[in-house]
Amino acid sequence: MVKILAISGSLRKNSSNTAMLRAAIILAPRISSSVEITLFPPESLEAIPHFNPDRETAGDIPEAVMTFRNALAEADGILISSPEYVGGVAGALKNTFDWMIGSFGLDVYQKPFAILNISTRATKAYEDLKVITRTMGGNIIEPASLHIPLPSNTVTVDSILRNPKLSDSLGKVIEEFGNAILVSVSQNK
Ligand SMILES: Cc1cc2nc3c(=O)[nH]c(=O)nc-3n(C[C@H](O)[C@H](O)[C@H](O)COP(=O)(O)O)c2cc1C
Repeated sequence: MVKILAISGSLRKNSSNTAMLRAAIILAPRISSSVEITLFPPESLEAIPHFNPDRETAGDIPEAVMTFRNALAEADGILISSPEYVGGVAGALKNTFDWMIGSFGLDVYQKPFAILNISTRATKAYEDLKVITRTMGGNIIEPASLHIPLPSNTVTVDSILRNPKLSDSLGKVIEEFGNAILVSVSQNK
């Protein structure tokens, strides 16, 4: 089974980014019986304290960070969808990846990443996420990384699944990502 961890950069209850990832979770078994997607709970992302290098150096890693690290380590691939705030990636997500400094090369090195940008206008958060992913040593799977122009605040899991164009695009992301992960897993055996 290919295990994909989905991470939303939005903490909003009615987040369009989270809805997209939840729709991917529902679509996955229809695309492939060997792909399973789980969502890193947004409330667990919200529980991660601000990054403090002193704590990192002292080995005083917050439990919420360890929960995130373990989830990353257990996944075969990471699927991210994040809003753009003030010209960059959502702070909650950036903060979480800052905590990964101490484990660079351990949790995500060469791990496949797919990045979704589901905004009608944002581009910088998407570019930021690519830079962050590469800095962590992650391997971005371009055919599974997509810009899907969607107006925010109007999107629900149901509306995504009922829209054939959208669910097709999302299905292709899952298919491409699942295949790329299988190749990566077999190469690393
Ligand atoms: C404080 C704030 C700043 C924002 N800054 C940007 C921005 O710089 N560029 C952009 O394209 N959208 C910006 N937005 C719009 C959000 O990215 C948009 O609402 C997004 O879809 C929210 O994602 P969500 O539905 O998953 O929560 C901003 C929204 C807020 C609340």
